[in-house]
Amino acid sequence: MPRTLWWEANQLKMIDQRILPLQYEILAYTDYRVVARAITDMVVRGAPAIGAAGGFGMALAALQSPARDRDGLLADLAQAQAVLDAARPTAVNLSWATARIMELARRAAPADADGLRAAIIAEAQRIADEDVEINRRMGAFGAAIVPEEANILTHCNAGALATVDYGTTLGVVRAAVEQGKRVHVWVDETRPRLQGARLTAWELTQDGIPMTLIADNAAGMLMRLGRVDVVLYGADRVAANGDVANKIGSYKLAVIAKENGIPCFAVVPTPTIDLSLAHGDLIPIEERAAEEVTQVGSERIAPEGVAVYNPAFDVTPARYLTGIITEEGICYPPFEQSLRRAVEAAERRRADG
Ligand code: MRU
Repeated sequence: MPRTLWWEANQLKMIDQRILPLQYEILAYTDYRVVARAITDMVVRGAPAIGAAGGFGMALAALQSPARDRDGLLADLAQAQAVLDAARPTAVNLSWATARIMELARRAAPADADGLRAAIIAEAQRIADEDVEINRRMGAFGAAIVPEEANILTHCNAGALATVDYGTTLGVVRAAVEQGKRVHVWVDETRPRLQGARLTAWELTQDGIPMTLIADNAAGMLMRLGRVDVVLYGADRVAANGDVANKIGSYKLAVIAKENGIPCFAVVPTPTIDLSLAHGDLIPIEERAAEEVTQVGSERIAPEGVAVYNPAFDVTPARYLTGIITEEGICYPPFEQSLRRAVEAAERRRADG
């Protein structure tokens, strides 16, 4: 499989995740506004992949801008940043990536617009390449907490498709397998968008990693019966105190895991950590269309006109998490300190090139 998204001949190319696994199609983008719509519509999804798409979206905006100097380009980029950031509110990687491009555009050495455009494209590419490196590092740290012959329970898709490549949670699974551990993954189907059934199941099957698909509601029973050794899931945003926003349904997994003495880890690249928010209740939670709940695919299952509440994410309070796996090591409580140390280490690494 190629990367989830990549830059080619001044276009952004992305695998269309809405139609996997039944169809496999690559879409090409030349307009940042269309990229923003693709993020909202979940052509691309998963916090790190959304972040990389935001970076490349800014690169497209730079190419679309007719500006001849830095000030003109900055004005057009600021407009693109606002449009892209609004595409999905919970995954902080999106605004992190667009802000990083803005910062570069303000400070980069070339003062002429074309020099800046080239520097912006290079920075977007760096964001994408760094994501793959981060996932490899995180996988190596995370594999250490995966027991031999572990039964791992996961939710949603935090795999290669949710990132540029390799995955966060599935990166940990892949690293464990690469170390020779014989693992089996319980895959939550993940209503309503079925990222588990469609995407995680597809990835694991392609890699030949043993897995079993379950309805979301089966997870509690499996944990009570001792058939889960560790719960691993990703994150869209982590507050400074370690509260984790992830796909709706993650919270109850962590609570049931704690009740049953099962370790539960979030697997989180540092760009997903938002130290500006003191706790998880400050994280904006996206609400999505009612049709995602009243329909399965395109088929209606609920009566016409029924009231629907469809939050896309929930917050796991930090006290339910055993640890947070990052590319700078595994953070343990008190998370205020360990997360800050991880973010600072990542910033130093980036500054050192
Ligand atoms: O709505 P989605 O599919 O974008 O939600 C994705 C998740 O909840 C993932 O677990 C999270 O973004 C981490 S991906 C490495």
